Amino acid sequence: MIEDTRQRLSARYDPFSRDVMNDPLPYYEALREEAPALYLEKYDTWVFSRFQDVIDVLTVGANAFIATDTTLPTPEILRRHNGGQVAELPLDPLPIGAMLGSPHFEVLRNAHIKPFRPRAVRELTDFVRDLAEARLAELLPLRRFDLTQAYGGRVSASVICHLLDMPLDRADEVLDLVNSLSRTDPESGGTDVPTIIGRCIDIMSEYIAKRRAAGADGSVPLIDGLLSLGYYGRALTDAEVATQLTCVFIGGVETVPKITAHGLKELHDAPDQLDAVRQDLAANVPVAVEEMIRFCAPAQWFARTAHRDVEVAGAKVRKGQRVMVLFGSAARDPAEYDQPDSFIWNRPIERVLSFGTGQHYCIGIHLARLELRILIETFLRRVERFSFDMDRAVRLPSSFQWGWNELPVVIEELRA
Ligand code: HEM
Repeated sequence: MIEDTRQRLSARYDPFSRDVMNDPLPYYEALREEAPALYLEKYDTWVFSRFQDVIDVLTVGANAFIATDTTLPTPEILRRHNGGQVAELPLDPLPIGAMLGSPHFEVLRNAHIKPFRPRAVRELTDFVRDLAEARLAELLPLRRFDLTQAYGGRVSASVICHLLDMPLDRADEVLDLVNSLSRTDPESGGTDVPTIIGRCIDIMSEYIAKRRAAGADGSVPLIDGLLSLGYYGRALTDAEVATQLTCVFIGGVETVPKITAHGLKELHDAPDQLDAVRQDLAANVPVAVEEMIRFCAPAQWFARTAHRDVEVAGAKVRKGQRVMVLFGSAARDPAEYDQPDSFIWNRPIERVLSFGTGQHYCIGIHLARLELRILIETFLRRVERFSFDMDRAVRLPSSFQWGWNELPVVIEELRA
């Protein structure tokens, strides 16, 4: 009977269906067991749900898979089948590097990777800690606030403003704009992505123009590196630079806050684990953060388009078809993790896919870890007892960013 239900469940899998967007986890279990390489005719897309298969797909290399249809195609894009043809994207104007194969992908990524290198990120430690402490100084007297957006959201958005040389008082506007990407239309499962991305580009273009006028001397490396890029035999326009930075603008704002809030909720729900972490916050929070990254990471999947026929992970992918790798499912794969559906703060984690793997591996991994450690540790240093008002918690149905959009925390006792 259970098997029947699972079979029906894997056969009903559609990443944009209301049911899946409400809770994909039962589908993932069914997919891993019954259909680890599932072909979705409607979208001409292969879906991979097992941990090792996701790695195998993302490391094929040699430009076999390129995100020509974007790394996060909408249902509208996927419904348009490529019919065995894949267009080479024009380089003038330059599309976002994430849609291009080698060498363009690496050239563009490397032109703005400098502020994300470990040393540059370490130098942000005091800045991020000051942001977290200042934010808590405002929020704790309220005794009740939204842990996702008001705390982690504001801090992460402020860091992105800082990296883009934008005034920090635009952080709320940045946060709201990025969050609008998660507000999917309940009927179609879609979002007006082009309009939202256009607005992100408009906001960033103002600061890119300022850097160009100031000489782009490298003091704002996130922007200046792209402004100084000579690879294409011409300077990139402000809009082209902004386009390259949309992933950072969005990725840097939408993920860390959900993991922070959800991670603290998992600790709250397991008092023994919270006590254990509290024994030595400096040593234990970084360990707990790794489990939070596995268990709470909200990004569910990314996609690529096949630029030639590829046989991988039990699938014969034809040129033009799309592959979709389910990071959300890989994180719960029992072949990789014991008791994958339990939060265990100090479980051994040898490999994690929450930051992706292969060519598109998350550029913000060190910054994400730094922010998470500081946000969690600062909160636990200031707050002795806390609970959550789950009647007011919001987890919007989402095919992509599935996590606690709002998680109201109640502060019961502060630490001396
Ligand atoms: C815990 C937090 C984060 C998680 C779980 C996460 C996850 C991911 C994943 C899974 C990918 C791979 C996408 C793919 O395969 O197509 C990715 C890529 C990326 N992430 Fe993150 N991310 C996080 C934080 C950040 C931060 C803080 C930033 C920037 C400030 C960032 C910027 C990016 C960018 C720009 C890419 C695209 C990299 C490229 O295509 O070269 N992410 N992230």
